[in-house]
Amino acid sequence: MPTIAIVSQKGGSGKTTLAVNIATRAAQSRFEACVVDTDPQATAAAWGDWRGDFLPVVVTSPPARLARTIESAKKNKVDFVVIDTPPHADAAAREAIKVADIVLIPTKPRAFDLHALEPIADLVNFAKKPAWVVLNSVPAGATLLTDDAKKAAKEMGLKMCPVTLGDRADFHRSSANGETAGELDPSGKAAKEIDKLWKWLKKKLP
Ligand SMILES: Nc1ncnc2c1ncn2[C@@H]1O[C@H](COP(=O)(O)OP(=O)(O)OP(=O)(O)O)[C@@H](O)[C@H]1O
Ligand SMILES: [Mg+2]
Repeated sequence: MPTIAIVSQKGGSGKTTLAVNIATRAAQSRFEACVVDTDPQATAAAWGDWRGDFLPVVVTSPPARLARTIESAKKNKVDFVVIDTPPHADAAAREAIKVADIVLIPTKPRAFDLHALEPIADLVNFAKKPAWVVLNSVPAGATLLTDDAKKAAKEMGLKMCPVTLGDRADFHRSSANGETAGELDPSGKAAKEIDKLWKWLKKKLP
């Protein structure tokens, strides 16, 4: 069962946004997708409440119970898991990385945010898990910022996802309704980026 962990130590880097958009895109591709929210803030879970009875299912789990939560999801026919994690929480990130097939690390392309990638780089390199940095909230025309971010990630031994997400109102506007960018405006730029990311991710799935 493909299990994707979304981790980053920095608050507000886009973990929850990425988690719900990817899981929903997976559900649209007929996966029985589930978001496992390990963040005590329970933001993904709140999104699930606003969303109501539509896929993906959203469940909460303390990091220490993560492996069991995923086992029981599997018994309930879930076949695609996205784990959302809290910021500033080494142990939670470590648990998520441990059970994941693929790790995605969203970050804004800014110096302070990139600096915060270091502890995660250590964790994924130690766990030898396939991991990619996903640049998020990239301002239009920010080629230099993107190049700097690529360089910084490379220096930490991290790969860079070729798909980046722009700074787009559809991401935050959709979340407020328990929706995703693709549901709010299927032909919008944010929806297209998630589609591209999904197509890239599908090729990496086990
Ligand atoms: N690409 C984007 N464009 C515009 N707004 C975005 C984008 N990605 C995320 N946001 C907005 O930025 C805010 C933070 O995003 P999000 O909650 O996904 O981050 P997070 O990493 O989960 O935060 P936390 O660490 O607190 O859990 C939210 O209001 C979200 O709607
Ligand atoms: Mg979050």
